[in-house]
Amino acid sequence: MTTNIYITTNAATSDWQSNNLVQLVDGNIYVMVGKDAPFSLRDIQKAGRKVESMGVAHATLSGEWTDEQQWAFALGFTCVGKLESVTFTGDNAQVLSNKLSVYAWSRDLTNQTPAQLYPAKLAENAINYLSSINSEAISSTVISGEALLEQGWVGVYNVGKGSVNPPCLVEIDFNPSQQKDAAVEACLVGKGITFDSGGYSLKASQGMFEMKCDMGGAAVVIGALALAMEQGLDKRVKLFLCCAENMVSSFAYKLGDIITYKNGVTVEVANTDAEGRLVLADGLMAASDTGAPMIIDAATLTGAAVSATGGDYTALFGLDDEMMEKAKAAAKQEQEPVWQLPLETWHQDKCPSAFAQTANSRPQKGGGAGGASNAAGFLSRFVNHQGWVHMDIAAAYNGNANSMWGAGGTGLSIATIARLLND
Ligand code: BES
Ligand code: MN
Ligand code: ZN
Repeated sequence: MTTNIYITTNAATSDWQSNNLVQLVDGNIYVMVGKDAPFSLRDIQKAGRKVESMGVAHATLSGEWTDEQQWAFALGFTCVGKLESVTFTGDNAQVLSNKLSVYAWSRDLTNQTPAQLYPAKLAENAINYLSSINSEAISSTVISGEALLEQGWVGVYNVGKGSVNPPCLVEIDFNPSQQKDAAVEACLVGKGITFDSGGYSLKASQGMFEMKCDMGGAAVVIGALALAMEQGLDKRVKLFLCCAENMVSSFAYKLGDIITYKNGVTVEVANTDAEGRLVLADGLMAASDTGAPMIIDAATLTGAAVSATGGDYTALFGLDDEMMEKAKAAAKQEQEPVWQLPLETWHQDKCPSAFAQTANSRPQKGGGAGGASNAAGFLSRFVNHQGWVHMDIAAAYNGNANSMWGAGGTGLSIATIARLLND
């Protein structure tokens, strides 16, 4: 069953309440914008949520919608079981539909259970999905288990070694010219923790309940490459996924362990729950090794980013002002909320250790004051600063539905990253 959804600036009936976003009239639904209340895409997203909660199975957008309004409605309408249940209208209906497919794939991946999605499965899903879009231009390498240690990818190895499901570092190469020596023009790096128990710095049950979402960064960068490819990407881009399950066992890494990275940096483990930065360090070094002038990482990295910006934003960090302006402009064009948080080169010294060059966290709960910036500072030790953007997307998952979003992953920032790749 599908329902026609119209957008209107006039009340559909005389008894329309000015505070009602949506009204059902003769089997059609009307979304009213801009009559009394100021016009806002946020309101339209809420209307989408409302229409979904009225029991509409499939929404067919009809009438005079702009593309932005349609997308806002679709973001609100989309939820578990209705991930691809909007029919768009207008000249760009197909473009919007393709975009929704990518978001649906990414959101669905994030919503998968830890039993369904373990590191090797995440790798397989990513490779299969991107190959299904362009099998010729995609190639991949998966370094898994003990091979990580042999090749010096000690961050992914240590975080993942406590699990029976081996960790892996995945490299996916999109090379449209198929020329072996083509320059890599951008790299994407994703945090792919398929479950974050916290390890020996064990999370409390409430916080742990959401931690199937901790591969959300990987889901977003895979989605971003997929969307950019569908938009006609013609540059070589490499994707690095840092996949592990952060578990407790007698094989797990411990507090006080010291990890010596490929670039010589030594890291004392002060908190096994600050695992994201440990795995991303490997991905960022691999990305920097390609010489790419642009590196974007996405990670559900810190609760502190959510505390600082609230649940509506991707927190942005970087040390290259020009690149930060580019990223903010791209987000604005895609109507995806971002907010830049502080990062200076000295943030790398914010997690001191008595036994190594740095610790992976301050000893306080949640990393203490400025925790999101301190995490970014840690990452900055492992990446070329020029052209680097770090996106802390810890807010891109909702355990429960709210007025804007259905429960689960939101996919936010996929379109922003795709735009940066195609600009
Ligand atoms: N995956 C979490 C961050 C997170 C929290 C994502 C809430 C989404 C929602 C991350 O690995 C983590 O545990 N971070 C710690 C860092 C701290 C130990 C320095 C945190 O935020 O408390
Ligand atoms: Mn953690
Ligand atoms: Zn985590």
